[in-house]
Amino acid sequence: MPISTFKLGHRGVKRMGYGAMQLAGPGVFGPPKDHAAALAVLREAVASGVDHIDTSDFYGPHVTNQIIREALHPYPADLVIVTKVSARRGPKAEWIPALSREELTAAVHDNLRHLGLDVLDVVNLRGMFNPHHPAEGSIEAPLTVLADLQRQGLIRHIGLSNVTPTQLAEGRGICEIVCVQNHYNLVHRDDDALIDRLTAEGIPYVPFFPLGGFSPLQSDQLSDVAASLGATPMQVALAWLLQRAPNILLIPGTSSVAHLRENLAAADLKLSDEMLAKLDEIAA
Ligand SMILES: NC(=O)c1ccc[n+]([C@@H]2O[C@H](COP(=O)([O-])OP(=O)(O)OC[C@H]3O[C@@H](n4cnc5c(N)ncnc54)[C@H](OP(=O)(O)O)[C@@H]3O)[C@@H](O)[C@H]2O)c1
Repeated sequence: MPISTFKLGHRGVKRMGYGAMQLAGPGVFGPPKDHAAALAVLREAVASGVDHIDTSDFYGPHVTNQIIREALHPYPADLVIVTKVSARRGPKAEWIPALSREELTAAVHDNLRHLGLDVLDVVNLRGMFNPHHPAEGSIEAPLTVLADLQRQGLIRHIGLSNVTPTQLAEGRGICEIVCVQNHYNLVHRDDDALIDRLTAEGIPYVPFFPLGGFSPLQSDQLSDVAASLGATPMQVALAWLLQRAPNILLIPGTSSVAHLRENLAAADLKLSDEMLAKLDEIAA
């Protein structure tokens, strides 16, 4: 069954994409354990029809973007690469907020250079008031910088990540916001109301940690539903997100070609109402 598409910026992308964060070394720092395997994952993704890749220059730092460029440049015309800015990495892999005009401008130029692009398709401004979850605070100053860089032609579209509904409303008063990328999955459902609003408005919601991130999802209900379908729990977690709302775009991360293939195949799964009800028990 062909995977459906949804509009991201000015282009339709398949709802099953790929998140490249896992291609950096342990702790998202330094080079990957297996450079050739990282290249193979990206090439397999694109060969399998993935047209939406999520990245950042602070993965590695720089490493993930450099691997994307090595694997895929010159890029297929339909490939949308989404990056994010707001942080830099310290010598011990720390995530340090980097939101001044100078830092954001440098980050955009670093992304362009390391990806080998003249213009970035989508740049997400990631909230850093609390690095681990959305927290209130004005995003006007950094978003104004990104909007200036957009007017200069360096960025096509702007999105937000790790933000609250209040910040989304503030952001939409400054520039068009084409997507929201927050933490969301079968067990972490803080954004249910936000997703419903974005669905009504036709704005893509891109859940990060769709499989649970650094602690992959585990639950009896998930395993039971997976067993009844002859699928894996990770596939069911992705299929649940695809059925959750039509504006959800997936970017599951993996460093393994086998896991990539498994994840892409989740687009063919159909969860019955009974299965959805059982899965809802996990978050209840
Ligand atoms: N905006 C933000 O703040 C933010 C934060 C985090 C992530 N992101 C983006 O979101 C993307 C997705 O998040 P994520 O990669 O951190 O987490 P994720 O997709 O929830 O899970 C990735 C983890 O699941 C494992 N995995 C993947 N497929 C699997 C499978 N079929 N079976 C078993 N294990 C599997 C991966 O290990 P293997 O490598 O062994 O497969 C990895 O440990 C990232 O790549 C990144 O682009 C954004």
